[in-house]
Amino acid sequence: MLVKDLENIFHETLDAIYGKEEVTSFFFLCTDAFYNITRFALALDRDLSITKEEQQPIFDALEALKNEKPIQYILGETEFYGLPFKVDENTLIPRPETEELVQLIIDCHSKQSEESQPSILDIGTGSGCIAISLAKNIGNAQVYAMDVSAKAIKKAKENAVLNKVEVEFIEADILNICHSALDAESTFNVIVSNPPYVRNLEKAEIQNNVLNNEPHLALFVEDDNPLLFYKAITEFAVGKLKENGQLFFEINEYLGPETKILVETFGFKNVEIIKDLFGKDRMIKADK
Ligand SMILES: C[S@@+](CC[C@H](N)C(=O)[O-])C[C@H]1O[C@@H](n2cnc3c(N)ncnc32)[C@H](O)[C@@H]1O
Repeated sequence: MLVKDLENIFHETLDAIYGKEEVTSFFFLCTDAFYNITRFALALDRDLSITKEEQQPIFDALEALKNEKPIQYILGETEFYGLPFKVDENTLIPRPETEELVQLIIDCHSKQSEESQPSILDIGTGSGCIAISLAKNIGNAQVYAMDVSAKAIKKAKENAVLNKVEVEFIEADILNICHSALDAESTFNVIVSNPPYVRNLEKAEIQNNVLNNEPHLALFVEDDNPLLFYKAITEFAVGKLKENGQLFFEINEYLGPETKILVETFGFKNVEIIKDLFGKDRMIKADK
């Protein structure tokens, strides 16, 4: 079958759902992943073809896209902060705004730290995207990553191997942290978290492909207690950050001022709300 004909089938089937441009991008992500055929290669040779035996994966992908399954789960991989990450239904798909959080931490570290081996803890690590990008980009950092989901930790461990970094993974529940989860003496220079923060009342704003495929454990909190993770993590950070250590959060864009006040009530200084590229309240940085 000619690859250009397959491309037409993708457009006929999917343009009404996603729009032409996004379908083109999905198509070439698939041809690259399954057949090593790039957009450029097809532009050079319009007669490229695949055999009948080779067709199944791309038709399976087409069917899954028709059912609004995210392309990252179909291919089992994505990119974050320029690095490859394996993902599946147990891990949130890393978002571009979280890359901004990683960038903020790297910038802060390069400006001020003389610490030769900063220790960093990422709480709610999911695919490991934050912890692994920091381990890759902050030389000598000792990085720890926690998640309550054993399946997410398994995937994050694969990602640490894939990216050739050392991260110590801890399976633990931050809302009910037991003392054996971490050495009593362990303290950190940086604690970072992108915890669940979407309220049930915001579900109407969430696209179907997210609602129906991504882990709800990673996304949602109750409407009447939306900051429970921020409270638990800030309280934990009071005892677990070293003097002058820093706390970084990704936050719900609608709850910036409330989250800032919460962090301040635990005695943190210089608590700043930082906007993302779209001008939305997206991160908090605070000093112990
Ligand atoms: C918003 S996701 C963030 C994932 C990843 N850090 C990222 O930025 O893409 C939140 C993560 O917190 C984890 N989580 C949920 N409840 C938790 C708990 N009680 N203790 C520890 N981790 C939890 C979820 O499994 C999920 O991986």
